[in-house]
Amino acid sequence: MTWIRILVLFFILILDQVITQNTNAVIMSIIDGWQFQCATTTCQPYATITSSSILQCESSCLRQIQCKAISFRQSITICQLFNDNINQNNSLQVFVGTVTMTVISDIRTASVPTSTILSSSTSSTSSTSSTSTSTSSSTSSSTSTSTSTSTSTTSTTTPGWQITGNMNVARQQHTATMLSNGKVLVAGGLNGTAGYLNSAELYDPSTDNWTMISYMNAARYQHTASILSDGRVLVIGGANSASLNTVEFYNSSTGNWLTAANMNYARYGHTVTILSDGKILVAGGYNGGSLNSAELYDLSTGIWSVTGNMNAARYYHRASLLSNGKVLVTGGRISGGTSINSAELYDSSTGNWTMIGSMNVSRRYHTSSVLSNGKVLIAGGYNDATPLNIAELYDPTTSNWTITGYMNVARQNHAVSILSSGKVLVIGGVSNSTYPPSAEFYDPLTGNWTNIANINVGRQQHTASILSNGKVLITGGQNGFSLKSAEVY
Ligand SMILES: *[C@@H]1O[C@H](CO)[C@@H](O)[C@H](O)[C@H]1NC(C)=O
Ligand SMILES: *[C@@H]1O[C@H](CO)[C@@H](O)[C@H](O)[C@H]1NC(C)=O
Ligand SMILES: *[C@@H]1O[C@H](CO)[C@@H](O)[C@H](O)[C@H]1NC(C)=O
Ligand SMILES: *[C@@H]1O[C@H](CO)[C@@H](O)[C@H](O)[C@H]1NC(C)=O
Ligand SMILES: *[C@@H]1O[C@H](CO)[C@@H](O)[C@H](O)[C@H]1NC(C)=O
Ligand SMILES: *[C@@H]1O[C@H](CO)[C@@H](O)[C@H](O)[C@H]1NC(C)=O
Ligand SMILES: *[C@@H]1O[C@H](CO)[C@@H](O)[C@H](O)[C@H]1NC(C)=O
Ligand SMILES: *[C@@H]1O[C@H](CO)[C@@H](O)[C@H](O)[C@H]1NC(C)=O
Ligand SMILES: *[C@@H]1O[C@H](CO)[C@@H](O)[C@H](O)[C@H]1NC(C)=O
Repeated sequence: MTWIRILVLFFILILDQVITQNTNAVIMSIIDGWQFQCATTTCQPYATITSSSILQCESSCLRQIQCKAISFRQSITICQLFNDNINQNNSLQVFVGTVTMTVISDIRTASVPTSTILSSSTSSTSSTSSTSTSTSSSTSSSTSTSTSTSTSTTSTTTPGWQITGNMNVARQQHTATMLSNGKVLVAGGLNGTAGYLNSAELYDPSTDNWTMISYMNAARYQHTASILSDGRVLVIGGANSASLNTVEFYNSSTGNWLTAANMNYARYGHTVTILSDGKILVAGGYNGGSLNSAELYDLSTGIWSVTGNMNAARYYHRASLLSNGKVLVTGGRISGGTSINSAELYDSSTGNWTMIGSMNVSRRYHTSSVLSNGKVLIAGGYNDATPLNIAELYDPTTSNWTITGYMNVARQNHAVSILSSGKVLVIGGVSNSTYPPSAEFYDPLTGNWTNIANINVGRQQHTASILSNGKVLITGGQNGFSLKSAEVY
């Protein structure tokens, strides 16, 4: 009969733990002005409720053990509850007026701090001082990806670029994609001597090491790679000796590449945007001439369908999803070789493209970043004569363009990352055949550009990714020679 006693004791222990979990305080981490990309794609919240305040939304989440994260939109008092913040955390997108919060530990309570939450736009890391140590119950291991403590490291490191492990293969015009497990997938590209690459490798931030993984089915460069809400990576088009219409998925659970249906048109130098209904929009690109065609991939059916043509055929343009659900396409190059300043909007509800006012300058090889205030920052690029330092802002509410200062360094084929503070970091690029090692950030609050520490190796056609610890990883590129080197800021 002793085993019964042990069992009873065991139950008491479990009960005790449950009670402890309910009585300890916890603060959820706050990401102001962002929402899970997942929230608007195929991965829906498990519940959507009306909440009059963020506190009520937060309390609802903390009372439900399956709730791991919330998005609260004050203007319409909508509170979305998510049961998975692992995939979602790595695919945040700007959404003005939305506050997203993740549960830091399994310790739950309905009472949480209040007044500072909505105003503390830049303090997303400071609030993570959770009390998670107390009830480290044995079951919590599966949700331990809420690696609450890791955020605190950012404040202790001195800023600067550190060379990290080299990639196994030197590559430029490749892709880098942040995976839901925190690793970074680098795929394809071009090696100045070895040619087109189908190789792929993974960066592990915890070891700074690169590991070769299975090869893609096709060698490709100037392709795109997009993280999906189910954790897979969708690689589209690009070119090797010819433009490609082929598409493949990488599943990080299996480490395998699987081909998907071909696009209707082969293309490289195109753009890919994941729409708010979860469909994937591919626009423009090049295949013997610049393309105005656009097509949609439906993840649920695996079918490509043609949608409205852009008004301008273009490649080396840029595309950004606006918070109103439309897609802004800017600049690019037409078949004759000239850069253009035109911009147009895609409306997914009609499948139509509408020309809007043009940018102040023609440009290709620029960057396009959606700010937390909903505006879009277009920076740098090339106007057929010189690399550019001019930056412009698109305001979706007025559909107007305004010039917003000049970068300290004119650059094209640079890389860009939006920091959690809302600032936009531009890195490297090429300026009249030199490779300035410069990096600088744009502050949306002041409209100013400010230099930060130089990168160690000047480069263009590289990638930049935000790691889950908030650091920025740049990989490869070229400065006359394809590069293996990678650096972390
Ligand atoms: C999600 O991101 C936020 C902000 O970067 C961070 O505070 C939080 O710890 C992350 N949560 C998980 C589960 O990775
Ligand atoms: C990194 O890779 C090198 C070479 O493969 C290996 O010797 C080293 O142990 C690895 N480091 C870690 C931390 O995995
Ligand atoms: C990825 O692979 C795993 C393991 O085979 C499988 O369970 C999962 O469904 C795959 N993911 C998707 C989205 O297909
Ligand atoms: C979209 O385009 C189609 C075909 O050109 C046209 O019939 C329709 O009126 C357009 N819709 C809008 C809202 O512009
Ligand atoms: C570009 O901006 C400058 C400065 O505001 C202005 O003088 C010029 O007319 C603009 N050019 C175009 C094409 O909009
Ligand atoms: C690049 O070179 C062109 C032609 O020599 C010159 O007009 C332009 O000012 C230069 N641009 C920069 C950013 O140095
Ligand atoms: C666009 O900007 C111009 C000049 O800055 C201004 O006169 C005009 O009213 C603006 N349009 C809108 C719709 O805000
Ligand atoms: C922004 O730049 C302007 C002009 O360089 C300067 O006067 C101003 O102090 C800067 N603002 C901030 C907040 O750095
Ligand atoms: C790639 O290019 C570099 C020079 O840019 C060369 O050193 C290297 O051997 C090439 N091959 C691979 C597989 O990296």
